[in-house]
Amino acid sequence: MNQYGILAFPAKHSLSPAMFNEAFKAIGLDAEYEVFEIPREGLAGFMERVKSEPIEGLSVSLPHKESVLDDLDEVDEDARRIGAVNTIVNKGGILHGYNTDFIGSNRALEEIAGKLRGKRVVVVGAGGASRAVLYGLLKEEAFVSIYNRSEEKAHKLALEFGEMFGAKIESGDLAAMQRSSGEVLVQTSSIWTLNPDMSLKDIGDLFPISFVGSFDVVMDIVYKPLITPLLAVAQGLGKTIVTGEKMLLYQAIEQFKIWTGKDAPETVMKSSLEKLLT
Ligand code: ATR
Repeated sequence: MNQYGILAFPAKHSLSPAMFNEAFKAIGLDAEYEVFEIPREGLAGFMERVKSEPIEGLSVSLPHKESVLDDLDEVDEDARRIGAVNTIVNKGGILHGYNTDFIGSNRALEEIAGKLRGKRVVVVGAGGASRAVLYGLLKEEAFVSIYNRSEEKAHKLALEFGEMFGAKIESGDLAAMQRSSGEVLVQTSSIWTLNPDMSLKDIGDLFPISFVGSFDVVMDIVYKPLITPLLAVAQGLGKTIVTGEKMLLYQAIEQFKIWTGKDAPETVMKSSLEKLLT
């Protein structure tokens, strides 16, 4: 039996085991997906162990996506440029790292917004999650701007990715964000996760109607809750929204292909996620 799993901390509440185990079953693959809840200080030791165990592949989540790069033998170009790995393949003790998050965010957006090339996209947040989203957008030649609570991080990211892609990227703090506009808005920060009880007033102050109203499509990569406060504002304005589980689903579908070389049973994985999130 082939073994796969999620490497994260905490990992117990991950939606991935149900999604992948249902997918393996659906195509009759003799494989099992487990939970590897490993704290930061245990990462290097765990990765060493993986090399000699029958673990074929891993999904990587917080807080290991960046630090695990040091424990891999080969890292593909996209993952290296993003600076984070969310997919590992163990080829006979040689560990290969990939990133499918940017593929997930692009697919989630493209199925709703169409081709990203030339689209004006505003990205909120400049943390780890935002890097994959930004990378995907720039790879598709969207016109991107980036805003973050701490301005410095937004400027730094804009400079780094601007140089990488030869693009001009506007950046600034959240006040500058409110003065910006575009066709697509993507929220990548952990604001809803860290502040689950934000008041309607604070939400309205941060994402005023005059700002959200300028976009055609609004995506939030947070999926708990599925309809985030920002998506609720956007919905109220009649905007098209993209919920966060889409990115989760599409990055997992890519992972499945990388691990097994087979097409993923997409409908099974989609309904597995829907069951878990409703
Ligand atoms: P992740 O991997 O989820 O992106 P991270 O790298 O810790 O996590 O980044 C968290 C992001 O959420 C950052 O952009 C952070 O803004 P700062 O750089 O200013 O810290 C953003 N964030 C967290 N709480 C926020 C809040 N209350 N308001 C606005 N942005 C917030």
